[in-house]
Amino acid sequence: VPAVRQLLPHPLEDLDPVEAHAAAERPRPPGRPWLLVNMVASADGATAIDGVSGGLGGPADKAVFRAIRGSADVVLAAAGTVRAEGYGPPKTHPDVQAARRARGQQPHPRIAIVSGSLDLDPATELFADAAEPPLVFTTAEAAAAAPDALAAVADLRPAGTGSVDLVVVLAELGRLGVGTVACEGGPSLNGQLIAADLVDELDLTTSPLLVGGDSRRAAVGGDGTPRRFAIAHLWEADGLVFTRYVRDRVAAG
Ligand SMILES: NC(=O)c1ccc[n+]([C@@H]2O[C@H](COP(=O)([O-])OP(=O)(O)OC[C@H]3O[C@@H](n4cnc5c(N)ncnc54)[C@H](OP(=O)(O)O)[C@@H]3O)[C@@H](O)[C@H]2O)c1
Repeated sequence: VPAVRQLLPHPLEDLDPVEAHAAAERPRPPGRPWLLVNMVASADGATAIDGVSGGLGGPADKAVFRAIRGSADVVLAAAGTVRAEGYGPPKTHPDVQAARRARGQQPHPRIAIVSGSLDLDPATELFADAAEPPLVFTTAEAAAAAPDALAAVADLRPAGTGSVDLVVVLAELGRLGVGTVACEGGPSLNGQLIAADLVDELDLTTSPLLVGGDSRRAAVGGDGTPRRFAIAHLWEADGLVFTRYVRDRVAAG
């Protein structure tokens, strides 16, 4: 893995992303977990090449991605991303598992999926290999008509009618005792989370690629109200730039 150097808040050579993310302050807002959004984009804003994000990153991005997952209690993803990227259950390295246990966390983060259609294959490793049944947040109607095979392997949670209400999702995760949620997209979920003012942190990897194409920006949809963030850290590795943005009021206070 290429060496990661920190440029802000102060210069540091060869830092450990796992330790840095584990030590990051993520105070829970009242009644819900801290929510970070983790995305990789090209320098011109593409979030996918040929429909998947894999070609945008590289070893350094994978290392930071794992470090962020390693600090989270729950990985949240929308069904479009789960299907496009062929998601399996999030797994952590044995060293990370030991550190997580010492912090009172489960050894692996739990996955939570947002889906209205419940077009999710219960036979995939996402369900078969999960340490805990994946949480699936869906609508009341879809939950009532869920296929038995999916209901048997998923922890189905109705959260809204017509569409999934993300405020309800976060409140439910708070009730389950979840402290940190790492949302891995996709862009349509991110846009809704921004609109609902639920995003506390954005971890954005910018890769030195120009892609063009028609993939979405890191967040789309919502009402377009801007929210102010501050840079908590800026790292560089192998030409990729890793920016951790946090809500301005958290950065200030
Ligand atoms: N560069 C990156 O870091 C990154 C990260 C993630 C994804 N991506 C890319 O982004 C693309 C997918 O993103 P996307 O924006 O098209 O889709 P998406 O946000 O991943 O998923 C959209 C789907 O999520 C479900 N959903 C989201 N909000 C919902 C709500 N409020 N109520 C009910 N269901 C809801 C629906 O699933 P149902 O259809 O099941 O109802 C909807 O069709 C892929 O190409 C992926 O590779 C890139």
